[in-house]
Amino acid sequence: MTSAQSTAIFTRSWSLYDLITAHNYMFHQEIYRSICDLLKLRKDLGQYRLLDLGCGNARYLAPCLKQSPPALYEGVDLSEAALAEARSYLAKLTAPVTLTHGDLLAAIESTDKTWDVIFSGFAVHHLLTEEKARFFHAAGRCLAENGWLILVDVVREENQSRENYLEGYLKFMRENWLKVPHDQLEEACAHVHDYDYPECLSILQEMAQAASLNASCIINRYGQHYTLLFTHSSLPEIRN
Ligand SMILES: C[S@@+](CC[C@H](N)C(=O)[O-])C[C@H]1O[C@@H](n2cnc3c(N)ncnc32)[C@H](O)[C@@H]1O
Repeated sequence: MTSAQSTAIFTRSWSLYDLITAHNYMFHQEIYRSICDLLKLRKDLGQYRLLDLGCGNARYLAPCLKQSPPALYEGVDLSEAALAEARSYLAKLTAPVTLTHGDLLAAIESTDKTWDVIFSGFAVHHLLTEEKARFFHAAGRCLAENGWLILVDVVREENQSRENYLEGYLKFMRENWLKVPHDQLEEACAHVHDYDYPECLSILQEMAQAASLNASCIINRYGQHYTLLFTHSSLPEIRN
């Protein structure tokens, strides 16, 4: 599902997603607070290279990077509208910032750099199963020995069908996202219905292991919204 079709909702305008996150309907506040804490544990602050796949406008990651500066930041996204905003959210970083308009799978499969942190927030579920396996394979190849793959995404329950997942998630949206105007809520629901392909956790872990990312942990979970950490070898000591 790498076509621009699946990201049209983000390409036309970024304001609907901003509205959803401003009301914290996808737990961005809790999730990105934990990302800030996690990045502070890196021993190479000021020196690590960060690849942000499906960066959007980077609004929530940018403050974490201010606190835990990378040596360089590269963001990739299919939405030019989002990238234009990302440029200003990331403007205060001292590190060089590269923003690339393109497909995240193509970007990770073609990168010739080694990355210390590969981050992806709420984007990988747009890939089909076989594409997710390729994503992990590419991440395993270009992640440094002490590198981290941090994946924030929606995840299905074990043995839950996509149809059953969608039924639950659309119900959650319609019952809880009350401050989103009706027509925009239905647009968001249609986007989720047509383009969300979350996997269950065991499948993500199997894909990671097959890509030599042998250590993984759940950093946190809010409903179906997970923050996952994958590494080649040892996990950092995380205190909750
Ligand atoms: C839900 S937003 C998430 C933005 C931000 N990372 C966050 O955590 O809030 C998903 C972003 O992923 C982008 N995206 C989805 N599929 C993509 C793909 N195949 N290649 C590049 N960007 C993609 C969309 O354009 C959108 O900006």
